[in-house]
Amino acid sequence: KLQPVILSGGSGTRLWPQSREHHPKQLLPLMGEETMLQATARRVEGFTAAQSLPPLVVSNNEYRFIIAEQLRQLGQDHAHVLIEPVGRNTAPALTLAALHTAEEDPVLLVMPADHVIGDLDAFHRAIEAGLSSAEQGLIVTFGIVPAGPETGYGYLRVGKDGALRDLEEFVEKPDAVTAQSYVDSGNYLWNSGLFMLRASTWLKALRQLQPAMYSAVEQAFAAADVQGPFTVVQAEAFAASPSDSIDYAVMEKLAETDIKTKVVPLSCGWSDVGAWDAFWEASPKDARGNVTRGDVVLESASDCVVLSTDRLVACVGVDNVVVVETPDAVLVMDKRQAQLVKPIVDRLKKAE
Ligand code: GDD
Ligand code: MG
Repeated sequence: KLQPVILSGGSGTRLWPQSREHHPKQLLPLMGEETMLQATARRVEGFTAAQSLPPLVVSNNEYRFIIAEQLRQLGQDHAHVLIEPVGRNTAPALTLAALHTAEEDPVLLVMPADHVIGDLDAFHRAIEAGLSSAEQGLIVTFGIVPAGPETGYGYLRVGKDGALRDLEEFVEKPDAVTAQSYVDSGNYLWNSGLFMLRASTWLKALRQLQPAMYSAVEQAFAAADVQGPFTVVQAEAFAASPSDSIDYAVMEKLAETDIKTKVVPLSCGWSDVGAWDAFWEASPKDARGNVTRGDVVLESASDCVVLSTDRLVACVGVDNVVVVETPDAVLVMDKRQAQLVKPIVDRLKKAE
């Protein structure tokens, strides 16, 4: 059986002002009618080859009722939500999911809640390609052909051609020069952030590589409080865990263990919609390449993102501009500088 695990604790600051700490991007209908969490939860629905179980969501306390409500709207009332009292990044989050499922020990399909996948059939074929390796105790990653030397991603050095390649090296977020050399070499794929592995495989890797994290999270889970569809993890013990990501805490260090890894190349219209330029990339556009939402009027504008929630927004004679209007904040930005939203948000946070 395949147990979907949805990681939904991040706040997506580079999509400010649409994405806020209190309303992060994965809980917004950014890409259409559904929220990104809902699209993720439905991604393996009815995928019979895997006999998919209802999703297990890992998130923080603040989002619990929105998450439960959004899953209920999908008819996924059996979904369970693991609640982290404080954020400790993705490695402890996945550990909670593995502990929660340890008895049945299913294959976990770990999915970030904030990705777009255009071609579901291709996605399902990729899962099928990796499933038996995951069942046998390997860690399966999914690799994307890099579109450029992005420094916000992990890189996978992969073995020769095939539907299932060896993972020779995992490098999380290399610097720009290194990333460029990886792209030039043609031997690397981007890490999509999706993982497939048994609960027991993860727990074994963590015990070996991050014993302090393992014992803190295990204690926090053992003392958790089950409240209907929510399992609320014990706060002090969980807070004592080191904070680290799946990628840094485990994936980069797997060579120190006897756990084997594979890469399934994935070509399915994947985007992590990390910032407004990626949002533009992933969205349907009009004839002039504009993405618009709400009350928007354009004249001689091209390749823009213009979103209005409250007021009429008009743009004239501009290209590659992002305008995001909300009741209390307006962003106007060169689309090619989309990564610079993060420093703005950091400054606003400090000023609070
Ligand atoms: N439950 C929970 N708790 N979820 C979390 C937490 C946490 O503390 N922190 C982050 N998440 C969720 C985010 O909401 C997101 O869906 C997912 O986990 C990944 O976290 P990011 O913070 O977005 O990671 P990243 O984008 O920097 O890097 C990862 O994804 C890249 C692809 O998008 C890595 O796996 C990279 O290697 C990969 O290339
Ligand atoms: Mg991300």
